Amino acid sequence: MCGIVGILGKQPVASLLVDALKRLEYRGYDSAGVATLDAGQLVRCRAPGKLRNLQDKLERAPIAGLAGIGHTRWATHGAATEANAHPHSAPGVAVVHNGIIENYLELRGELQAGGAKLSSDTDTEVVAHMVSRELARGASPRDAVAVTLPRLKGAFALAFIFEGQEDLLIGARRGSPLAVGYGEGEMFLGSDAIALSPFTDRISYLEEGDWVVLTRNSCEIMDASNAPVERPVISSQAVSLTIDKGNYRHFMAKEIHEQPEVIGHTLSRYLDLSKMQTTFTNGTSIDFAPLDRLIISACGTAYYAGLVAKYWFERYARLPVDIDVASEFRYREMPIRKGDMALFISQSGETADTLAGLRYCKSQGIKVAAVVNVPESTIAREADLVFPTIAGREIGVASTKAFTCQLAVLASLAVHAGVQRGHVSADEAAALVRSLAEVPGTVNRALSLEAEVEALAQPLSRARDVLYLGRGTSFPLAMEGALKLKEISYIHAEGYPAGELKHGPIALIDEDVPVIVIAPFDQVFEKTVSNMEEVAARGGKVVLITDEKGAAACGAPTWRTVVVPDVPEFIAPIVFALPVQLLAYHTAVFMGTDVDQPRNLAKSVTVE
Ligand code: F6R
Repeated sequence: MCGIVGILGKQPVASLLVDALKRLEYRGYDSAGVATLDAGQLVRCRAPGKLRNLQDKLERAPIAGLAGIGHTRWATHGAATEANAHPHSAPGVAVVHNGIIENYLELRGELQAGGAKLSSDTDTEVVAHMVSRELARGASPRDAVAVTLPRLKGAFALAFIFEGQEDLLIGARRGSPLAVGYGEGEMFLGSDAIALSPFTDRISYLEEGDWVVLTRNSCEIMDASNAPVERPVISSQAVSLTIDKGNYRHFMAKEIHEQPEVIGHTLSRYLDLSKMQTTFTNGTSIDFAPLDRLIISACGTAYYAGLVAKYWFERYARLPVDIDVASEFRYREMPIRKGDMALFISQSGETADTLAGLRYCKSQGIKVAAVVNVPESTIAREADLVFPTIAGREIGVASTKAFTCQLAVLASLAVHAGVQRGHVSADEAAALVRSLAEVPGTVNRALSLEAEVEALAQPLSRARDVLYLGRGTSFPLAMEGALKLKEISYIHAEGYPAGELKHGPIALIDEDVPVIVIAPFDQVFEKTVSNMEEVAARGGKVVLITDEKGAAACGAPTWRTVVVPDVPEFIAPIVFALPVQLLAYHTAVFMGTDVDQPRNLAKSVTVE
């Protein structure tokens, strides 16, 4: 992952680089660093841990220079130490890198055999030394990069500065995104337009294999075969947002509470409430009628949204769905047929595995659609059809509002597909649309359960293991609940289909293992209650999350019960996501973890 930035400026750049890195911290926060050219000499400042550490260091020992590069790291090769922090340098050059150089061991061996002294465990440092070796052989910076790039295997975005070259910044993109920002007598490089938004809104996205040579007044882009190419300069929509938590203690809390509003925005894009219909004509039309199969792929929370959608598409549109996590899908060599369409789901729109799956489907000649939250992302740009979620920027690493907005889009799509395929009548569609229109209000009411859910956090925080169970659309939600809890509280948690318990996981049940059962009063409610009885019979502590009808009908003993407002079965997964998110959040707060930036994670996963 990692975020990179480069600036050829008119004023000292160190603090500007840090400012851009703040906007890129979602890509990783294991270490950060900057390098500048001070009177032509390369100077670096690097620090392990959060960006704050780098800022403190720069305040104590500022570095000068009008040209520089910066990096925020999510460690792949080598621990999160200062020695492994970027920028990496070798005589004459400094580089920042996002991605993985897969053949770095071979290159490292070659460089060491030639006498190079490497001082980190990273894959990136070899790039600095390769370029440096070419400079020492007399190559210009531009030629040194041109010779080096074809030797690198893997995925990368790179930015270089060179000793004695205060008006030169070189970037390259293969696999990882890189944008050029155009200023007035200034030039910028960044992993995304958001990082560059305080400086400029005039952006070009480099394409696969492109590399770019920038001076303050020129921009030359070359493709992978070194032929000069033009890439359009667009006016970026990424606004220079002030990112703040409002009155909330964490971004995650703020984002949980934004859900009624952002789900409302998202639904208003896909529902026509005057006609009680779905509407997908606003720039994006889609025809599900001729399809034999829908292929869905995504990662993490977005994958769980896709899994809920599988139930919806199969039930309401009778459309068979194959779904896989993208890291498996991309190498599975799934046979693709003419009647298939593929749908990829991603908050960031940059997830490497999801993007690779999308490219595989495109190469097989089928139409690919994407549900994304970042409209300028690579996935949004490469998909044939884009269905945006209007969740606004999600800062907390644990996805909350993006998930429920994804569900809102997918539910609307499923109704649309049902109508187009003749399995949902106009009246049935109107009833489903009406229930979707209720979601923002019901989600708002679900938020009032917060104090009750918070009271569960203390006992839950003492657990070593927690199981989440659900059936039907509550099964993906059980997995999402377990993911949310483990990623921010570090408590081990697993989600299972409730009926699968007796095939193994029931062996884990004892009085120390809380079992969170997600069970709206739906067509499988009775079955889930039987599974709860099996847990209770073995001394397990059941926390039941249900609705009013479910609470009234449940005969099984529970340790605690959380009662969500009654909702139509169709929209239950969206509404039930709220207590699940709140439970994970308050448990993590109680345990004192870093809720918004949990250890080892990053918001945007651009490595495979
Ligand atoms: C978990 C979480 C991750 C992401 C996953 C995919 O809370 O946020 O599991 O859902 O990394 O990311 P996107 O949606 O950006 O493709």
